[in-house]
Amino acid sequence: MKVKKAIFPVGGLGTRFLPATKSMPKEMLPIVDKPLIQYAVEEAADAGIEQFIFVTSRGKSAIENHFDHSFELENNLLAKGKRDTLASTQEMLKIPGSYAYVRQQEPAGLGHAIWCARHLIQNEPFAVILADDLIFGQSTTKEMIKNYNSGNMVAIMEVDKQKVSSYGIVQIDNNDNDIVKINQMIEKPSIDNAPSNLAIVGRYILDNKVFDILESQERGSSQEIQLTDAISSQIGEIPCFGYKIKDERFDCGSKLGFLQANVSYALNRNDLNSDLTNWLKTII
Ligand code: UTP
Repeated sequence: MKVKKAIFPVGGLGTRFLPATKSMPKEMLPIVDKPLIQYAVEEAADAGIEQFIFVTSRGKSAIENHFDHSFELENNLLAKGKRDTLASTQEMLKIPGSYAYVRQQEPAGLGHAIWCARHLIQNEPFAVILADDLIFGQSTTKEMIKNYNSGNMVAIMEVDKQKVSSYGIVQIDNNDNDIVKINQMIEKPSIDNAPSNLAIVGRYILDNKVFDILESQERGSSQEIQLTDAISSQIGEIPCFGYKIKDERFDCGSKLGFLQANVSYALNRNDLNSDLTNWLKTII
């Protein structure tokens, strides 16, 4: 069955980025000149996704406005003949009805956020994309959908052993292929309890049965309803696969990852590369 819908959970508080995120959604933080959430939506569209479901919360209306017309701005740019700039403000508009928004009334965790979108998913697999996990090249979701047949699939990457307690960590038998079978996963294990240093990063293709699990799931690590716990509890009933990401990933929910992403993406741009490189050389 084709994967045509993606959920973008954007209901979190973004506390690691305060005070910037007090009244502005974390997912609207820009990498160079584009907000994180736009990179995520573009990645989904490139993967063939047709319906974009955002799980929002109070204070996130900037995201809805970003994916809509801004008539005053557009008229102004048109009147001034700034056609390229105008096109850049319109490139995220999609056919009417492509974007849907559902509210998460309390930030009770990623699993809870996904569950809030349950009525918008029918009997079909769906993608989940975390905008603050920015993966260079923007082809991860496309690759995952291409390799998906059934069950659950999560994107994985190796992390420093010291950092396993910040991630969902998977256990696998055979590390030789790009797609690996997962036997077990643990959310935020201690270094001693971690079954590996292979961490789940923010891309998932999920079987809709996950909603049945999330419906009655207890709160786990950090007192939140964890998506990892729900996927983990299905192992044995439906297959679970890990897709090893090939490109560099930036944790833009952390200050360091956000800064690294900005520098990397700027260095990759023809209009910025040379001046930025020269300036970096003078300060390092
Ligand atoms: P994070 O844990 O990185 O985001 O969740 P956060 O909770 O907003 O950030 P900090 O830790 O307080 O700084 C990953 C993604 O899941 C969403 C977030 O908005 C983010 O895009 N999320 C998280 C929800 O939608 N709801 C939640 O209850 C928690």
